[in-house]
Amino acid sequence: MKNVEISPSIISSDLLDLGNQIKQCQQAGAGSFHLDVMDGHFVDNITMGPELVSSIRRGTDLRLDCHLMIERPDKYYKAFLKAGCDVLLIHYETPIEIAEFFKKLEKEEIKYGIVINPDTDVNKILKFVPFSEIVLVMSVYPGFSGQKFIESSLDKVRILRKYIDDNLYSTKIEIDGGINDHTGKLAVEAGADILVSASYIFNNGISESIKKLKSL
Ligand code: DX5
Ligand code: ZN
Repeated sequence: MKNVEISPSIISSDLLDLGNQIKQCQQAGAGSFHLDVMDGHFVDNITMGPELVSSIRRGTDLRLDCHLMIERPDKYYKAFLKAGCDVLLIHYETPIEIAEFFKKLEKEEIKYGIVINPDTDVNKILKFVPFSEIVLVMSVYPGFSGQKFIESSLDKVRILRKYIDDNLYSTKIEIDGGINDHTGKLAVEAGADILVSASYIFNNGISESIKKLKSL
């Protein structure tokens, strides 16, 4: 059985009870946390800034992935690193020059990964894969939790799996959006290493749902 990593997205957690919910996730076997940062420009929603990331940092030693759904990751990334984020996940679709930005992050020895939206051609991001800690495939349009899984994202996962395996890269494939025990299974079968989940985990009993996802 493949050892799939579960990365709860705290966007659907009860923020009043966040410390406890983080502990529950960890006890149930979560491997990392996924922090959805939205600025109201790149997507039509506003969520957290570096302050919340630094509070979460005090609540866990697990890896923190910051999914930056913001127009200017180049302007704000340092604040998220300072807050305790371990991996910066950067959208291919941001208006910045990705290749240049990644070179800069590489020089600064910062861990990062590329993110691809449902309508973007997967071939466009292949050149960034070898430098990425994680390649994040969006299986919903970014902005909101609780949306329906987009099946065509599985083709992207399959293509990335083959590309990574053929070239012996160590990049992990992560999938984000509409993941539950059914879609999670499809994603793992297609080759995903890490499942992000918000509403399924936090609306269905944290412990039970994480355990179910881990057993896929
Ligand atoms: C969407 C976010 C996702 C999302 C996941 O913009 O990147 O992390 O909140 O939510 P669910 O698991 O409910 O689809
Ligand atoms: Zn996300």
